[in-house]
Amino acid sequence: MAPKVTAITTFNRKGLEQYGRTAIGSFLQHWPSAVDLVVYSEGFDLEPAARVRSISLNGAAPRLVTFKNHYSKQPMAAGHTKTGYDYNFDAVRFAHKMFAMFAAAATLDTDYLVWLDGDVVTQADVPESFIPEIMEGVFAAYLGRKGMHSETGFLCFDLRHPEAKPFFETMERIYLTGELFKLNAWHDCEVFDVTRTVFEAQGKIRTRDLSADLETLDPFSESCLSAYMSHFKGQPKTEDGAAGQGRIETMNNPRRYEQILRLIEAFKPETIVEVGTWNGRRAIEMARHGLRFGTSIRYTGYDLFEAATPENDSEELNGKSSVTLAAVDAALSAFETANPGFSYRLIRGNSLETLEEQSADFCFIDGGHACETIAHDFSKLRDSKVVVFDDYYLDGADTDAFGCNKLLEAIPHLVLPVTDRFSNGLAIALAVTASPEKLAKIRSLFPHATGKSL
Ligand SMILES: C[S@@+](CC[C@H](N)C(=O)[O-])C[C@H]1O[C@@H](n2cnc3c(N)ncnc32)[C@H](O)[C@@H]1O
Repeated sequence: MAPKVTAITTFNRKGLEQYGRTAIGSFLQHWPSAVDLVVYSEGFDLEPAARVRSISLNGAAPRLVTFKNHYSKQPMAAGHTKTGYDYNFDAVRFAHKMFAMFAAAATLDTDYLVWLDGDVVTQADVPESFIPEIMEGVFAAYLGRKGMHSETGFLCFDLRHPEAKPFFETMERIYLTGELFKLNAWHDCEVFDVTRTVFEAQGKIRTRDLSADLETLDPFSESCLSAYMSHFKGQPKTEDGAAGQGRIETMNNPRRYEQILRLIEAFKPETIVEVGTWNGRRAIEMARHGLRFGTSIRYTGYDLFEAATPENDSEELNGKSSVTLAAVDAALSAFETANPGFSYRLIRGNSLETLEEQSADFCFIDGGHACETIAHDFSKLRDSKVVVFDDYYLDGADTDAFGCNKLLEAIPHLVLPVTDRFSNGLAIALAVTASPEKLAKIRSLFPHATGKSL
């Protein structure tokens, strides 16, 4: 029998209106019909619906009430430090989530317990096999960050594991004994990380870090989860500024890729080539979108995969961690099974050696970032109908050495308007080349695009 999966979350009445209803609606639309959602509610009851029920958090977790009664009178325990508010020390706020998990782990009849922050929105169908696959052989799956606490917007636990009960009891004890206040930070992430690390070190559990890029501050959108869900924590939900100037900029939350989907919608490609497949999430995103408008997509992806070395990472200004071909193959194969119109090929190695001359309906050049590599990759794909380049640098990069700026000086192109501007000063846009007719169509889609289009 398939293992039972239950997702849980918590929010208060304000959260329900701000993001909760959207999150619940998206859950109902995209999670498998066998997966239920339990909302640990603060101050409201949900109208009854199949697969979603609310349970009063205070009723389910009386020890949370004791904890809050005691500590909410102490400003320090609510993050009010001598130098102002610091979420790292807001023990009270982040306790809700933990006590909801303790209550769920102790009472729900389920095999896998999935935690979703209240502002996680599911935007694509989650395959039934997804949770069992990421949980294969482990007690917990989570999103790690290097040199920083984990991102706990998503967590998954196997409640059948013999250490499940001791694990949750240990975390609860950290709160109830006040040991929490000896930790480096007083939020749920720290409690989870400390408990996980100790249980792992004692050989009691194995866990899976779903982050594909440990350097990022936003591991959610750099993980396999991003194919199905987005976590809006601390991220701007809407863009407004600079619209009058035709250029929308974001900080540390890349948005330029959404424009690729608009191009896919406009040109409905049947063949897609991506140089720089990385973890396969863009392949899936492009294919999923394309299949809404056409019946078939053949995708070919090129990447170094295991052939990546520290040397070629630095030559190509590659900031992503390397992924194995087998891992990406597994993800694309699951997508192919669920979407019969999709087929794919993955080619491992340096594109300077592996990229075949071909003409595709749509190409995304996002492999090596050295000017020579981009020029080479384009030379093999130049007869394609639409070629999109990541890495058109507007700021913060040496464009004589990296990016597509130099190559495009002599080629009609458009630079798309959404720019990602990062805290290290880097500002990146997408650029596109195509026939004059297609460039005219792209300009009508993006009236604020700039660049040399003839
Ligand atoms: C920025 S990531 C690609 C991200 C992906 N296109 C996306 O949108 O999520 C760049 C990828 O290019 C690969 N890469 C870098 N240099 C390469 C080369 N010379 N040949 C093939 N792949 C390369 C890296 O291994 C890395 O996975």
